[in-house]
Amino acid sequence: MRPGIRPAKSADLDALVALDKVCFGDSAWSAESWAAEFARLGTDRVMLVADEGMQVGYVVLLMPPAPEDPVDLLRIAVSPADRRTGIGGQLMTAALQRCTGRTVLLEVAAGNEGAGALYRGYGFEEISRRRGYYAGGEDAVIMQWQEKA
Ligand SMILES: CC(C)(COP(=O)(O)OP(=O)(O)OC[C@H]1O[C@@H](n2cnc3c(N)ncnc32)[C@H](O)[C@@H]1OP(=O)(O)O)[C@@H](O)C(=O)NCCC(=O)NCCS
Repeated sequence: MRPGIRPAKSADLDALVALDKVCFGDSAWSAESWAAEFARLGTDRVMLVADEGMQVGYVVLLMPPAPEDPVDLLRIAVSPADRRTGIGGQLMTAALQRCTGRTVLLEVAAGNEGAGALYRGYGFEEISRRRGYYAGGEDAVIMQWQEKA
């Protein structure tokens, strides 16, 4: 059964804290950070969840109210057991559908080949690099998406 993509609700908080830990380990957002993200839903945050009876993925966007301001894709992840089955793509499709007419930016570690491939597949293009941005000296790649006319 394919998961449904739906907006996050407050009852998702604990599950997303746990899933984020599985997906990002030491780089996971703290429970407090997640609570702060949820508190901003309905203001400048959009959060979507891939749900197949349990939460298996999520995407978090910083969407400023002014449409001329770029959207930042802050986070996207899928449970390791569910990867390469199209869920990340479904989340990306649903996220970009909410970004009609806007510019979307994101930052990805240069060595994160899976995420980079996903982003390029959805039309993101590298616009700049921050050399040695991450601990350990890895570059950060800044990518941009704009809806094709
Ligand atoms: C990046 C991530 C969200 C992709 O999710 P996913 O559900 O596996 O993505 P999909 O199955 O929809 O893949 C769509 C396409 O992206 C590309 N892709 C995804 N993962 C890839 C990988 N590991 N290697 C190469 N290409 C990959 C492929 O083109 C894939 O299409 P295909 O399977 O038909 O070849 C997932 O790997 C993940 O959660 N990674 C850890 C968290 C992370 O690094 N997030 C990004 C930084 S915020």
